[in-house]
Amino acid sequence: GAVQDLRGRRIVVTAGGTREPLDPVRFLGNRSSGKQGVALAERAKARGAEVTLIAAHLDVAAPEGVRLVEAGTTEELRTAALAAASVADVVIMAAAVADFRPAEVQHVKIKKDQVGERLTLELVANPDILVELAATTPPEVTVVGFAAETAASREELLELGRRKIGRKGCDYLVLNTVGWSEGFAQDRNTVVVLDRLGDIVGEASGSKMSVADAILDVIA
Ligand code: C5P
Repeated sequence: GAVQDLRGRRIVVTAGGTREPLDPVRFLGNRSSGKQGVALAERAKARGAEVTLIAAHLDVAAPEGVRLVEAGTTEELRTAALAAASVADVVIMAAAVADFRPAEVQHVKIKKDQVGERLTLELVANPDILVELAATTPPEVTVVGFAAETAASREELLELGRRKIGRKGCDYLVLNTVGWSEGFAQDRNTVVVLDRLGDIVGEASGSKMSVADAILDVIA
């Protein structure tokens, strides 16, 4: 069997993309498949952890044997993450959380003939859950963030990551590049893990399962 180096550890993983409703039939979303977060939950479980998977929209099935909490919107994900974090050893924020949501949710379907040829949406900023978790959990809780960036080079990616970990206040930041054909929805991934100081403490390239193991190696 697999090494049990996470036996008894309570690990919370958020995964997938949040969906912010516009009206009863439409939402603003993103292209996250949830594959990397689901792989983290699956590998953490295999390594002995008690896993809570907080799932926004996933294109893949949740693994067996984990506690599953469904969260559609950022607000639902925030509530679930803060509650789960209060009894966790590790929180991994792999979900692609919408930075903005529609300022108003229409309670009936928006109709084209009532809108005309141009529709302006007003958006408001969502709370940053990772910042809130990093600021409110006790220091012994390990908080891990993700940063998916459209960086042109490794140097640019590291630079963006070093600035971001300072702003977020988390213990580790997993960096990967995304684009029209990279990152989201792919079966492979390439990541660099930074610590609080911005030093590289892990690197992996391969299947999302092997990348999950490399990220868990850093945490373990
Ligand atoms: O700032 P950016 O969206 O690149 O940060 C990504 C990291 O922050 C991810 O770990 C994501 O889950 C988290 N995040 C969050 N709440 C938001 C936006 C992002 O927790 N509103």
